[in-house]
Amino acid sequence: MNLLGAHSSRRPSPVVQSIFSEAPAASQSRLRQIYEQLPQTAELPDFNAFVAFAGQWFVDYRNTASVMPSSPQLARAMVLPSQIRRAETVVEFGPGTGPMTELLLKGLPEAGKLFSFEINPVFVDYLAAHYPDPRLHVIQAGAETVCDSLREHGHEEAEAVVSSLPLSFFGVELRNQILSGAAEALAPGGVFTQFQYASGLDCSGRFPRFYDLRPVLGRHFRRVRRHLVWLNLPPAFVYVCSNG
Ligand SMILES: C[S@@+](CC[C@H](N)C(=O)[O-])C[C@H]1O[C@@H](n2cnc3c(N)ncnc32)[C@H](O)[C@@H]1O
Repeated sequence: MNLLGAHSSRRPSPVVQSIFSEAPAASQSRLRQIYEQLPQTAELPDFNAFVAFAGQWFVDYRNTASVMPSSPQLARAMVLPSQIRRAETVVEFGPGTGPMTELLLKGLPEAGKLFSFEINPVFVDYLAAHYPDPRLHVIQAGAETVCDSLREHGHEEAEAVVSSLPLSFFGVELRNQILSGAAEALAPGGVFTQFQYASGLDCSGRFPRFYDLRPVLGRHFRRVRRHLVWLNLPPAFVYVCSNG
């Protein structure tokens, strides 16, 4: 459906048709042109996801870490570095309402599997309701269980791990446990991606600077690159890591 309540075939709804027919004959074709250019709701941000996300931020701001889901631009930057078109197994940490999940499912082959680890039961239910895809296995457990959980499902490794976890909020021990698990689970040549909001400043030195995850990630991955994605609230650094 689009903004005026018409179906996606672009056949105007009765309300819209009556607006067209009551308009002066000279403006009707211009009105139709404007109507054709209106975005479909599928092209607009999912309002339910915003409500669910903001609600969970109030309940558990430390683990949710953001008041709104990631933008499509950030989701793309997180998913594109991984070659998932031929992947058998892909892992996701912290799917939330699923901006990355959706893209991963779009890119994954028919026989591929996506294991998404999420600790918040509200998001687990949300994902089940919004992505009824047999390739998606939402595991209600912490990302730190990745190796054991994959083995339980008959998999040893994953070609890609996409993580939205708020690593800078975690204690050193949990963070290292998660990152060494991710590195162990990654297949040779596989890619691990992680984002970090640029608003998280490191104030330990003389001047505040962007919090930099590179030294942390560098302990688990041989190659770590980072770039900034501006089109997100707040803008975020995407880290692309590999051991290959
Ligand atoms: C910043 S949100 C990202 C959500 C979503 N991927 C996005 O980009 O909009 C972090 C997510 O990580 C989840 N989370 C936090 N700690 C976790 C853990 N130890 N294991 C798995 N998920 C966790 C939270 O519940 C939340 O859904």
